[in-house]
Amino acid sequence: MFRRSPPRAENHDFPSTAPKNHDFGRFSEGRFRHTAFQGRSREWFCANAGSPPALCRAAPSRPDGELLASLRAFADVYRARPARYASNAGGMNVNHAFSLWRAATRLQPGVVVESGVHRGFGTWLLRQARPEARIFALEKSDALKVWGLDYFEASNRTALLMGSEFQDFNDVPWDELLTPADRAGALVVLDDHTDALFRVAGALRAGFRHLWFDDMWEGSHYSLGHLCRAEKQPLRGLAPEDQHADAAWLLEHLVSFHETPAIFDGCATGYPSALLRVS
Ligand SMILES: C[S@@+](CC[C@H](N)C(=O)[O-])C[C@H]1O[C@@H](n2cnc3c(N)ncnc32)[C@H](O)[C@@H]1O
Repeated sequence: MFRRSPPRAENHDFPSTAPKNHDFGRFSEGRFRHTAFQGRSREWFCANAGSPPALCRAAPSRPDGELLASLRAFADVYRARPARYASNAGGMNVNHAFSLWRAATRLQPGVVVESGVHRGFGTWLLRQARPEARIFALEKSDALKVWGLDYFEASNRTALLMGSEFQDFNDVPWDELLTPADRAGALVVLDDHTDALFRVAGALRAGFRHLWFDDMWEGSHYSLGHLCRAEKQPLRGLAPEDQHADAAWLLEHLVSFHETPAIFDGCATGYPSALLRVS
């Protein structure tokens, strides 16, 4: 969760809310793809998962009973997911899905904005978690043409901003679509592999405060993983002191931070899901 951003009039000039010296052009989607992690094996990923995100303040952990009840409710929903999401290659796996479920069911937002939809599994899950919410699903690719409408949660409470309807999250005129209260209470789901600071700054500028990021990893874009871990991975074109400055900017705005623990440890036991043994 992030601090309420300054009133729009004070906050209108984008660079005033952005980290000092942060050249967003350098990290915009498509311009920052460091390749050090591509083509690596699962074993390599497991051995290089990185340290806990110690720099970012963690929220207090919740009682076990509440977490277990939440996991059981999620397991029922996950088990009943449509066959088209039995495997969700290129998208969220069970660990990410539980984290998203938990964010949506605990915050209970009236509005959800999802950037990076792929085949629509996340949108489907969000609809199960929040049957009445308004969902804005933003996807850069022409996913509707590729997968077909059947893949996507289609209702008059979901706006599919894809293909010719696509607008980047940072460019959507959110103040014309949503009231300040809607935006302050909304959950923003970011799974578009775009520079995390670009998204945080854009979200705060638009009046959003609750952000969920899929990726803490350091393999495809400038993620919270790069910012929240004390030891900085070397990044092409970015010195460790720049990363520390970016992390300091993030911490200035951050109220609470929580990384959902994995419920299925693929690194120790292999991929078939053990989650559904919880019952
Ligand atoms: C990891 S997938 C998303 C997985 C999805 N959330 C799920 O439920 O499984 C990332 C997606 O982000 C999309 N994407 C890339 N840049 C984007 C942008 N600027 N805005 C929205 N989507 C974007 C890609 O086309 C891709 O489909």
